[in-house]
Amino acid sequence: MKKVLFVASECVPFIKTGGLADVVGSLPKYINKEQFDVRVMLPKYMAIPDQYKQQMQYKTHFYMDLAWRTQYVGVLELEYQGVTFYFIDNEFYFAGFAPYGNIYEDIEKFAFFCKAALSSLPLIGFQPDIIHCHDWQTGLLPVYLKDRFIQGDFFKNMKTIMTIHNLKFQGIWDKKTVRDITGLNVSYFTPDKLEAYGDANYLKGGIVYADYITTVSDSYAEEIKQPFYGEGLDGLMRARSNCLRGIVNGIDYEEYNPETDPLIVQNYSADTFRKDKQKNKKALQKELGLEEDEKKFMIGIVSRLTDQKGFDLIDYVIEEICAEDTQLVVLGTGEEKYENLFRHFAWKYPERVSANIFYSNERSHKIYASADAFLMPSLFEPCGLSQLMSLRYGTVPIVRETGGLRDTVIPYNEYEGMGTGFSFRNYNAHEMLNTIRYAKNVYYEKRREWNQIVDRGMAMDYSWGSSARKYEELYNTL
Ligand code: GLC
Repeated sequence: MKKVLFVASECVPFIKTGGLADVVGSLPKYINKEQFDVRVMLPKYMAIPDQYKQQMQYKTHFYMDLAWRTQYVGVLELEYQGVTFYFIDNEFYFAGFAPYGNIYEDIEKFAFFCKAALSSLPLIGFQPDIIHCHDWQTGLLPVYLKDRFIQGDFFKNMKTIMTIHNLKFQGIWDKKTVRDITGLNVSYFTPDKLEAYGDANYLKGGIVYADYITTVSDSYAEEIKQPFYGEGLDGLMRARSNCLRGIVNGIDYEEYNPETDPLIVQNYSADTFRKDKQKNKKALQKELGLEEDEKKFMIGIVSRLTDQKGFDLIDYVIEEICAEDTQLVVLGTGEEKYENLFRHFAWKYPERVSANIFYSNERSHKIYASADAFLMPSLFEPCGLSQLMSLRYGTVPIVRETGGLRDTVIPYNEYEGMGTGFSFRNYNAHEMLNTIRYAKNVYYEKRREWNQIVDRGMAMDYSWGSSARKYEELYNTL
């Protein structure tokens, strides 16, 4: 039985800011329990809901050196849906209403977390064969492991995997401060190790020191070897390309299931969506105060409102997107200019546009169930999960052909009767607009074809099944 420890900064249902949390919360459930003992380690943030905090059991505590400081480390344990979770407790670092705050605080917080994660293992008696790290917050873990821990018997055979969910976020701060915080020797701060462009870079450390690197789709694994997508680390990605592969994310097919979803008004399946899906649309129109017309073409957006997701393109042609024959429903928060953009258009066209500038899991399910199309014109997209949720709910994705979007949405081909969505190649607002108009035309003029696109989308399988097998294979070969 191989033992695997996931170490991450967020995880559904405890704490979430983005797709990372969905992956860390669902993948462990789908790894074969007969061959692998997978556990997960997270910070015990104050912001975790009380219902979970109350169920956590105290395991142990100790004091740990972090450079010249000595810090308290508590470890708590919680079994949830068949998976064991460990929570690292320290009220100084993990107070606050959100998992992340100012970057200079986060830099110290996650140095603490990485070292505490390793230090706690002998005390809780869990000796993983593989530590599976996620994103920059855990970048120092492979570094600490190779720096010191590996010299001890307990750690000497441990391997690490670094999964990149988003190369844009690297955890960068000046070398001197990072040396002071981490206690790592000055020799680590060179361009072949932690240094990048004069600063210290946590994710780079993780990529250099991990035994294997993965990212969350095949296309993104290729793209990040190029300067356009490489975020300054494309050279390193090319250098490590022998130990780099893409494994596409799945979604939790139990939570996202239109046949059983308790959060939507009308359940439906691939057989019944033709008459039942629109009942959700009608109910949502009513709830949001939009014109109640189940025939209106409804576009959904559920997203962080950032440049990565292509909102500058939407901004450019929003007047045209909000045409009379269209409704637009947006859910999410992010950059103020985009929040205000949607608020403005909801004010200008109250019958057609609904701006929900907050996050609500329930509302997101209702949008997936109600909208006809889902818009995701990302500048870059390591995997993307919303397009997978859309496919599952018979909502046709309109995406830019990049990263995971390119790998999971098959472009509609009217001549061959193929495809599960609509896509465009260049990062160009009018190319996007033309694609939206094309989709709308198929929806209004060729409904049978549209429904067949939905049929094919709902028949796709983006549950974790096949991707979990790929991770298992990787765990076995390390
Ligand atoms: C990040 C990426 C997104 C990916 C998710 C989970 O949020 O931006 O593309 O799906 O991580 O891997």
